[in-house]
Amino acid sequence: MSRETWTAFDAYIEDRLVGRDAGLEAALADSAAAGLAPIAVSPAYGKLLHILALSIGAKRIVEVGTLGGYSTIWLARALPAGGKLTTLEIDPPTAKVARANIDRAGVGGKVEIIVGPALQSLQKLEGPFDLAFIDANKNQNPEYFTECLARMRSGGLIIVDNVVRDGRVLNAASEDPDIKGVRRLFDLMGHEPQVTVTAIQTVGVKGYDGLAIARVN
Ligand code: SAH
Ligand code: DHB
Ligand code: MG
Repeated sequence: MSRETWTAFDAYIEDRLVGRDAGLEAALADSAAAGLAPIAVSPAYGKLLHILALSIGAKRIVEVGTLGGYSTIWLARALPAGGKLTTLEIDPPTAKVARANIDRAGVGGKVEIIVGPALQSLQKLEGPFDLAFIDANKNQNPEYFTECLARMRSGGLIIVDNVVRDGRVLNAASEDPDIKGVRRLFDLMGHEPQVTVTAIQTVGVKGYDGLAIARVN
């Protein structure tokens, strides 16, 4: 089994199950044209976020790490009329690309982008949120989790991207701040009585990684 197979299978899933969406496709194209890193969630993963948001009837969503707004659009498409998503991005030029992508996708009225370091932005946000998607700098994952948890409604979901990183998260001796951040997150989540939590390993077009899902009790 190889990355080639995982990529081909993601294309198969996309073709048969995910469907086309001009706003999402344009967001990826313009993100690439603007030179943003190709690290948005995959289409299949974006649709998973969308399904999870629909499943819990999410009306208020917070996202940590906007990039070009690809995951933002998937989540915002799950919001009912009057729903709102707040997304946090540190880099102003990146936020500008995201703003255009989100507006063109037709969900601009539901999405606020707050530009600045996410932890500071989060600390000023008022909940309650139904769903949080944490997908920014990994070294601050525990702090993001704690600040999100303090603002979640009971039954809400906190989803954290990139918690496996080719298995490198297994390395307890790693000095990589991102790996250390993810390992601190596992310890924090595992000891947090307010959540029911697991993590799932994934393979696909983005390689071998995984996500954590915590349901707030
Ligand atoms: N969720 C996006 C991908 C996000 S990539 C998607 O799937 O489409 C991570 C993003 O987090 C980048 O745009 C990066 O600029 C941003 N980021 C990094 N450090 C940050 C910080 N301290 N505060 C806010 N955003 C940050
Ligand atoms: C990478 C992937 C991500 O989903 C992310 O949020 C950050 C980095 C990567 O593949 O490097
Ligand atoms: Mg990610």
